[in-house]
Amino acid sequence: MLQVVIKERGAMPDYQLTNNKAEGEQLLLSRRELVLMLIAGLLSLPAGLQGLIALFRYISVPSRSFTGAVAPNWVPAGLVKDLTIEQPKVINFGESIVYVMKAKEGKIKAFSGTCPHAGCLVSYDADKTKFVCPCHGGEFDLNGKRVAGPPPTGLFEHKVKISLGRVIVGRRKDV
Ligand code: FES
Repeated sequence: MLQVVIKERGAMPDYQLTNNKAEGEQLLLSRRELVLMLIAGLLSLPAGLQGLIALFRYISVPSRSFTGAVAPNWVPAGLVKDLTIEQPKVINFGESIVYVMKAKEGKIKAFSGTCPHAGCLVSYDADKTKFVCPCHGGEFDLNGKRVAGPPPTGLFEHKVKISLGRVIVGRRKDV
């Protein structure tokens, strides 16, 4: 085991590392050298701390896209009165898209346009009244539920709030 021993002034060379099997290794330091080593250690703390903060931010942001961009919190999606029942309207949401629509009972819903299978963008097929994925044939009904293809889940639903007759779409409900 390495043992640090503070030497008396002028008693020995500045520092010396001995390897005595009976006593283990000893690092002989002057007080000045010991203080300099402690200062160097303290100065390296901010860099390590910044690295930890960057790592924490990287793993704690849930809506990061493949390019590293962070999804916005809320995006305006037009007026409630302009939405037609069961006619999805597409809006940009960060680097992706979201479909906003008025359901039969009048409730406003929003679904992610990103397919939960492999991340392709789905489109709305008005003839089928379904969202369809061009990549592997995934299909989703107007409630976002998977009805065909390999996607493991339905389309992810986004938060929606209404303010002064305006629709505002938030992040996914599940994250
Ligand atoms: S990415 Fe949509 S079905 Fe595969």
